[in-house]
Order: sequence, then structure tokens, then C-alpha cells
Amino acid sequence: MTPIKILFISIEGNTRSFIKDLTKYAVGMHDQDSSNPLVISKEISDQSDFEDESDPFFAFVPTYLDGGNGIDNGVKELMTNTLGEYIAYGKNASLCHGIVGSGNKNFNEQYCLTAKRYASQFNVPFLADYELRGTGRDVERIYKLLAKS
Ligand SMILES: Cc1cc2nc3c(=O)[nH]c(=O)nc-3n(C[C@H](O)[C@H](O)[C@H](O)COP(=O)(O)O)c2cc1C
Repeated sequence: MTPIKILFISIEGNTRSFIKDLTKYAVGMHDQDSSNPLVISKEISDQSDFEDESDPFFAFVPTYLDGGNGIDNGVKELMTNTLGEYIAYGKNASLCHGIVGSGNKNFNEQYCLTAKRYASQFNVPFLADYELRGTGRDVERIYKLLAKS
């Protein structure tokens, strides 16, 4: 079974922690049944060299906005722009099979807005969302979703 490949960006560590939990969960699932895929991931940061991806991937992105709700008063994204630029680089966007967003529901209509914007920009599905570091149930739900996407 081809592994699930994930590209992600994490500023404060929540997304990194979720990907770590997801990777561990996948190992458990794979040990139970080798037809369950493993998870491999690559963290993108401002220091990353841009590369041409060769395999399909999912992108995980948190939201950092400095005001704006993206609907009627614009939007200013902070911190996570490098991942968007990486997906837009070369032909990478054609290998992106969907976006998973994270954020904090206290931000109301801005919740996961960056993920929604990437999905629209790259014309790929907004597959799922979770808050902050996510829960065990989020890990299970999102693993199942990615395994069949
Ligand atoms: C300055 C700042 C702005 C944020 N803006 C949003 C936002 O607009 N919408 C949202 O859903 N979450 C927002 N968040 C919450 C983060 O997306 C959330 O904490 C996420 O888990 C951070 O992921 P990371 O630790 O991997 O960087 C914001 C957090 C900070 C610190």
C-alpha cells in the first residue's frame, strides 16, 4: 500500500504534534493489517528549499490571520505563506489531493480560513478540519479519510 504523504507547516508546534500522532496511529493500523497505509510527512518552513514533488500529497495548514475575515473585509495571512508558495511551485499543485485545516474555533468565521483559501486557490477539496493539536478521535477520523481519498 502506498504511504499517505503529507506536507505541512507548523509555527507553534500544534500541527507537528498532530502529524506525529497521525504517523504513530498509522503504524499501529499498518501493524494490524498491512493494507493500511503508513504516513510519511515533510515539514515546510521558511528555510525549506523548494523541490518538485514526485508523489501525490495532502497539505496540512493552520491559520494565522492578522484581521480580515476573507469575506467582506479582506484577509492578511501571516506565517503560513511558504506552504502556499511551495504548493504553487512548479507542478506541485497538480499532485495535491486535498487540504486539511486546523485553527481555533474562537476565531469564528476565520476558523481554518487559510485551508479553505488554499483549497479554492488550488482547486482541491477541503477535506477536514480539527482544532489546535486535535484529539485521538480527530486522528482516527482523518486517517480513515486520507486512507480512502
Ligand atoms: C496570531 C494568531 C492568529 C491566529 N489566527 C487564527 C485564525 O484566523 N483562524 C483560526 O482558525 N485559528 C487562528 N489561530 C490559531 C492557530 O491556527 C492554531 O493555534 C493552530 O493550531 C496553530 O498551529 P501550529 O502550532 O502548528 O502553528 C491563530 C493563532 C495565532 C497565535
